Amino acid sequence: MPKPVRKEVFPPARVRRYLEPGPIVLVSSHWQGRDNIMTLGWHMIMEFSPSLLACMISRGNHSHRMIRESGECVVNLPTTRLTDEVVGIGNCSGAGTDKFAAFGLTAEPASEVRAPLIGECHASFECRLHDDALVGKYDLFVFEVVKAHVAPSPRHPETLHYTGDGVFMVSGRIISRRPLFRPEML
Ligand SMILES: Cc1cc2nc3c(=O)[nH]c(=O)nc-3n(C[C@H](O)[C@H](O)[C@H](O)COP(=O)(O)O)c2cc1C
Repeated sequence: MPKPVRKEVFPPARVRRYLEPGPIVLVSSHWQGRDNIMTLGWHMIMEFSPSLLACMISRGNHSHRMIRESGECVVNLPTTRLTDEVVGIGNCSGAGTDKFAAFGLTAEPASEVRAPLIGECHASFECRLHDDALVGKYDLFVFEVVKAHVAPSPRHPETLHYTGDGVFMVSGRIISRRPLFRPEML
């Protein structure tokens, strides 16, 4: 069983470094005295500063109500060590289950929101609901990342990228073309 990972404070304006590649994330929430977690693949960076992130959280999920009502969540980045937990959490409802207990995960206190960080994840991004204008039409929540925590190593964690049909791709080889970028594009 993976252990909690020590994380360091990280600049919210730089969370694209982890989320732009489109990894599967675990979204934790807290409402009416209870914690929950869901698996999520549909997210998108929208702005560096303020650090804005859009997530499609279907209204059929218990997390949808919890996050809409509380106006908060934490977006956590799991690695391949948590593959079975990612699948299990995304295939059951938190309405009647404590998923932290069921999947042996550690709820750690956040500093800016009441939703907990998931200790075993490589990174955790504390989010506040920034704009709910598209929730009614598309279940699309726009969050501001108000505090970020990242494990100092490895620099490129092995993340999960869902292709549908129960199959994941795993992040791999790193290539750089940094010299070809205009400075303002970096
Ligand atoms: C790999 C994977 C990716 C998922 N991506 C999303 C997503 O982007 N948005 C969403 O609403 N549900 C997504 N789900 C489904 C939810 O995680 C699932 O319905 C979960 O049981 C919701 O839990 P809850 O009812 O406790 O909130 C995904 C599930 C899996 C397994």
